[in-house]
Parts: sequence; structure tokens; C-alpha cells
Amino acid sequence: MCGIVGYIGKRDATPVLVEGLHRLEYRGYDSAGLAVIARGRLQLTKTAGRVQDLRDKLGDKPGKATVGIGHTRWATHGEPNETNAHPHTDAGHRIAVVHNGIIENAEALRAQLTGEGVRFATETDTECLAHLVARELEASDEATLEEAVVATLRRVEGAYGLAFLDTKNPDQLVVARNGSPLVLGLGESEMFVASDVAALVRYTRQVIYLDDGEVATIKATDYHTTTLAGGAAGNSVKTPTVVDADADDYELGGFSDYMRKEIYEQPDAIRRAVMGRLDERFATAKLGGVNLDARELRNIKRVKFLGCGSAYYAGQMGAALVEELARIPADAEPASEFRYRSPVVDPDTLYVAVSQSGETSDTLMAVQELKRKGGQVMGAVNVVGSAIGRECGHGIFLHAGPEVAVASTKALTNMVVNFALLSLLLGRVRDLSAAHGTRVVNGLRNLPSQVAGILNAEAEIAAIAHRYAEAEHMFFIGRVRGWPVAREGAQKLKEISYVHAEAYQAGELKHGPLALIQHEMPSVVVIPADDLIAKNISTVEQIKARGGPVIAVTSVEIPDGLADATIRVPRAEPELEPILFNIPLQLFAYHAAAKLGRDIDKPRNLAKSVTVE
Ligand code: G6P
Repeated sequence: MCGIVGYIGKRDATPVLVEGLHRLEYRGYDSAGLAVIARGRLQLTKTAGRVQDLRDKLGDKPGKATVGIGHTRWATHGEPNETNAHPHTDAGHRIAVVHNGIIENAEALRAQLTGEGVRFATETDTECLAHLVARELEASDEATLEEAVVATLRRVEGAYGLAFLDTKNPDQLVVARNGSPLVLGLGESEMFVASDVAALVRYTRQVIYLDDGEVATIKATDYHTTTLAGGAAGNSVKTPTVVDADADDYELGGFSDYMRKEIYEQPDAIRRAVMGRLDERFATAKLGGVNLDARELRNIKRVKFLGCGSAYYAGQMGAALVEELARIPADAEPASEFRYRSPVVDPDTLYVAVSQSGETSDTLMAVQELKRKGGQVMGAVNVVGSAIGRECGHGIFLHAGPEVAVASTKALTNMVVNFALLSLLLGRVRDLSAAHGTRVVNGLRNLPSQVAGILNAEAEIAAIAHRYAEAEHMFFIGRVRGWPVAREGAQKLKEISYVHAEAYQAGELKHGPLALIQHEMPSVVVIPADDLIAKNISTVEQIKARGGPVIAVTSVEIPDGLADATIRVPRAEPELEPILFNIPLQLFAYHAAAKLGRDIDKPRNLAKSVTVE
């Protein structure tokens, strides 16, 4: 959802900014641009295309600038053309600004500025910030860039991560955060700023996460922060965090795209998630980040998972695990619905905010709504230092490692693995027997090699995906444990291949959707090793009887010739089976999208983390 980057130091700023933008491209890829100050003047370069187009436009001539800001955009206000690409400037080209987020009162500010004679060059909400800051500076010779930014932002409503450049103060950048992430990277006589550490780790691992309402002035050798609420609260220097990732984690490492790389990282990701968290002796789990003692765990009467997109489906799989292992009522709800529907917040419910990025606006807002109403909420996030993790204060760290592809794979898997750990913990302080707990512990230990086994069957899964990739529509059918798997499988196919995929509960098929079954409408049917095998087989027969092709994904033996294609999944501990079933469906979507020639890591209209509503 828009990536911003800034640099000030001794290096040639342009390649540093372009490299940073390249790392942030997963956040948005509608257009890209950068601004540097060379010989006292702003030099702007923008493109309606990708960061590669920007790189091509800039050529490889060394630049004269050692300070600059850049942006890769996921369009909200104004179509994604070159004019609307960031950075934006004031009319005098003194100030340049890059912005991630939405200025909610942009229309009012624009009307006011227009009334005062300001002419706008773009349709964006961001441009008014450049004009406002420039006007603050023009109004007083004494005003610093930071003061002008603070004065401007006090008039602004909305969410933002911002970086400002001022040609009259080329020794500094001023950045501000409210609802969109911003992290400073501290180097040796050089400083970086970015939406995400991905853009910084090749230069430094010492970072400062800014908080909402904070403004920072960054110079090559130092920085200070202040707050919008009252600058008096202080110019302060914060303690840096050392990032636990390095540049290699963000490289393709021989893969042609990040999605396939991340699919292949799943065995290791699962190993990391369970490492040191399984307690064989007491057949339970240890989750150091969960600040609840045994009595508090026992007092939980209900569990509710909140997340968006794949994180919501992972939550649905988590709810099934909690109900099955801990016998506590549990469900999942899209955070985007929860935050708007005036929910009844129950103090005995444990709310779990699920998010790979930890910055999805809807999920963050749901957390804030819950806290306001006294709900107990914990996070399940993958990005350390992220807004949701910090807002929740405690929870489960997913340990999936950096995920770059827009379509979530290893993070989703680790969400469900972590929910299995949580369910085990909740179950073992209740009725879950030690023997059953031991089975789950062993089942979790076996998952990495079982996932590796599925990955070995990639060629067969690819062949099946290629056979059906041209279908205009597909059903994904499952029931009970298979239902969220079907939903996530349909989501994966939709987002990266653009094939219309609809998930349906097997039992509901006959109540309407069966009318759509015909020869051109394949159905992927999920058949786990549960008590419902016969029911699922009968579903397949119903579809076949109406001429619909069936791709069975199953861990059980099904009659020969029942399905048109069969994808085999190894048998796992029954409650853990959904974790394995997701893997072939990731490969199925991946190979369907590859066959259709899609841009797998950057599906149209999407962004990896959505920091606006
Ligand atoms: C976006 C992505 C989805 C992702 C969702 C939630 O919509 O395109 O792939 O599942 O956000 O992201 P989160 O970072 O909160 O897990």
C-alpha cells in the first residue's frame, strides 16, 4: 500500500532510493517516482510504470545528489498516471513530498488553497501537503521545515506516512507517521527512512520505529523526534532496535518469483514456528509472547479471530482448531466487518488479531475498537515492531520470515501452525488429554517433512493446474475442516490468476450453486481424512452426475475414476490436516497463473498490505 523511502548521507542518493523502491514494490506498483536535491534544485523523475521503468528512465549516470525521497504507489486518489505519481511539489518547486495513506479532509484543504490562488497540478490528496508546508515556510523566515510540517499536519485528518524534502534545507529530511508505518535506519554518517525494513537491511540493521503522531527530523549524522500533540513533549532520541533479518532474506535466491520461493520456504518456516515451543513432557505448547497465566487461560470463555483476506481464512482454520482441541466456542470474522458493526465486546472472550504485515488498517482499527471497549486482544503478526503487534502488546509472533509476494503462503501456513500451538495450550489447561496432546505435538513435528513431500509432487500438481487453467469459473468445495481450506484455495486462485473462483460449503451446493455445474465449470473438492469422507464422495458424485469436472484434493483413498484428477495429500494428525491441504492449492493457483502468463508477485489492483480502508 504505497512504499516510501528517503536517504541522506554521502552516497549517490538515486541508486539507494531506486534499490529501496525495488524492495518496497510489493506495497504498490501502479507508478513510481523520486526527488533529489542537486545543486540547490529539485530533480523529479516519475513514471506511470514499475520501479524498473523508473530505473530505465534514470539511466545509470552517477547523480549529484546525496539527499532524496522516493515512492512506489498503490493508487487511491487519482488514476495511476505519471502526473499523479509521487513525489508532489508546491508550485515553486521548493518542497517535495511522498505519502502513504489517505488525507481525509483533502477536498476541504484543496478548496481553501484554491480559493487563496494556489493552482494544483495533480488530482492527488497529497499535493495539498506540499503547498501547505511551502506556505508555512513562506509566511515566516524563522520557521524550520519541522515546524512547517507540524503546523501543516495539525490541519490534516487522515492516515499517513510522509517524507518531506526542502531545497532550502538540503541537510535534512522531515518525516511523519500517523497510521502508516515508517522506520528510520541509522547508518554511519547516513540515515535512511522507509515504510518497511526491507528497504533498509542491506545498509543497516539499526532501526527506529516511529509511533503514530510522531515527526522526525533526520540529518546525515543525527535525528530527533517530536510529537504532533505537543512539540514540548520533547525532542527525543529513541533506543534503536536491531532487525532480525538480512538482505539475503529479501533476495530471490534462484527462484523466478517470490511466491514460489515462499511456498518452498514453508518447511523451514514451520520448523521456526514450533522450535522451542513444544513441550513434550506435558504435551503442550509454550508461547512466550502470550502474557496469560494458566488461570487466565482457563477463564477464557470464547476465542474470536479477526483478520482480512488470507489472515481471516487462517483465523477460520484457527477457530476450528480451538474448538476441536480446547472445546471453547471459537469463530473468525473479517476485521473489516467487525470494526464497523458495533460489536458486543465480551470481557471473557480472547480476541486474536491476525495479520502478516501487522499494519492492515481494518485489523488495526478493530484492535483499537476492542481496546476502547475493554476487550482482551492479542496479536498474531509476522512483522516485528508492526503497528498491530505494538497495539496489542502481547501475542504470538509467526516466525514465517519476510514475505514479499502479494499472495500469502508461508505466513498463512505459520498462522495456522501457531493457532495449533495456541489451541494446544488452551486445550491442555482444560480437558485435552495428555495422549491427545502428544499426538498433536508429534503431528506438528512431522509437518515440515510432509510439506516437503507435497512440494516434491509439484510437477503433477502443475500438470493438473495447466489442464484447468483456461476455465472461466471454478468452484472450491469443502465442508467443516475442508471449508476454510476451500475458501483460501479459491482466494489464491482469484488473486493471482484472475480466474473467477467461488468457494462453497459442500452441503450448500444443492441449495443453489449446483445450477451452475456444467462441463465448463470445474470443481476442486477438498476431502480430508475426517468423519465426512462418505459425504464428500457423495458431493463429488452429485457434481459428476451433472457433467462437472472434479479435481479431488484428498488424504484418503477414493474410488478409482471418481474424480477427473486427484491431488494426494499425506495423512496428518486430523486437526492439522488443513495446514497440509493449503499447500497443493497454493501450487495449483501458482501454476494456473503461470500458465495464463500472469505477473504472479504483483497481481493487478492488489497490494500486500492495505493501510487504508
Ligand atoms: C491484502 C493482501 C492479502 C492479505 C491481506 C491481509 O489484501 O493482498 O493477501 O491476506 O491484505 O494482510 P495482513 O498483512 O493483515 O495479513
